[in-house]
Amino acid sequence: MIIAIDGPAAAGKGTLGRRLAEHFGLAYLDTGLIYRAIASKMSQRDLDPADPEAAAAVARTLSAEDLEDPALRGDEAAQAASQVAAIPDVRAAVLDFQRDFAAHPPGGARGAVLDGRDIGTVVCPGADHKLFVTADLEARATRRFQELRERGVESIYARVLEDMAERDARDSQREVAPLVPAIDAFMLDTTELEADAAFAAALKFIASRC
Ligand code: C5P
Repeated sequence: MIIAIDGPAAAGKGTLGRRLAEHFGLAYLDTGLIYRAIASKMSQRDLDPADPEAAAAVARTLSAEDLEDPALRGDEAAQAASQVAAIPDVRAAVLDFQRDFAAHPPGGARGAVLDGRDIGTVVCPGADHKLFVTADLEARATRRFQELRERGVESIYARVLEDMAERDARDSQREVAPLVPAIDAFMLDTTELEADAAFAAALKFIASRC
């Protein structure tokens, strides 16, 4: 069983993806970490994340262990990640890694949940279930702002909102694998939904198709 979850930042994809994976006994991959890890490696080597050749070279050396660095969760990594993610050779270099994860999930799991921006459209177009999780920009920025506060990270709401809008625009308007719902995706708007209600709606959608 393959579940593809796509949508913009802070819409609730990760929380939902982890819960679905646990519920169905599936492996889970947050594919945003792949682009964050490439950006972070580039920054460690003082490389420009907008340099296509350097980014593709780093992408080709990526390993599963690179995704485990806790520093990847920060917002600086997110902006640079969305720059490297717009480079076609970078996306090509990490496609097989994601497809292998889906085809041969680790730990003997009977399938996988992948979340990102292009899972239902490019990485796993044949996924059994596709969800597009979204929410208003303000609701997502408020969630991210609160999350940063809880982690003790100083931030300014207006800045968080502006960064998110910039990243949404870059991810949606890029030429390769832009952020768009697959035509057969279930649209789940979490603006007014708590995590439990979003999980229940996703389960209902999946059950209606089995
Ligand atoms: O999901 P997350 O916010 O961690 O993703 C960081 C960035 O990585 C996104 O803004 C997007 O540019 C890129 N990304 C992508 N395709 C994916 C997952 C993430 O382009 N499947």
